[in-house]
Amino acid sequence: MALLKIRKVGDPVLRSKAKEVVKLNAQVIDLLDNMAETMYKAPGAGLAAPQVGVLQRIIVVDVNDENGLIELINPEIIRTSEEQTVLEEGCLSIPGAAYNVIRARQVKVKGLDRKGREIIIEAEGYLARALQHEIDHLDGVLLIDKGIKIPESNQL
Ligand code: NI
Repeated sequence: MALLKIRKVGDPVLRSKAKEVVKLNAQVIDLLDNMAETMYKAPGAGLAAPQVGVLQRIIVVDVNDENGLIELINPEIIRTSEEQTVLEEGCLSIPGAAYNVIRARQVKVKGLDRKGREIIIEAEGYLARALQHEIDHLDGVLLIDKGIKIPESNQL
């Protein structure tokens, strides 16, 4: 396993649209392993492949709940609750900054695991938020596009 370099805001790779993974090969498995290691080391609750310079639709999330590490290949939001919440979020690609972001309170997400099996996750609260945040990264969307910056003195 290896730590990967996390790209920071201003890097064009963060603004590019990631491509679907068409073949689950050893490179994808290595990438998943390295992304998880990089996320835990940072530390962060999620990481998307574009954040380590790879334009593939791959995310890892761990919000420290009973789900543990979630790895998703080609994740897709298939249902979004009408109810929304505002919560403070940070991003490993925007160090030190925090934003209040409005997002759906619940989402249903579909994707593949590392063995190519379909996974469906029904998430709410912080996990729902983390999944939406990471999936945004796959489309080049960052917190600065949808959040309201919180002054440093008011950050949690
Ligand atoms: Ni982020």
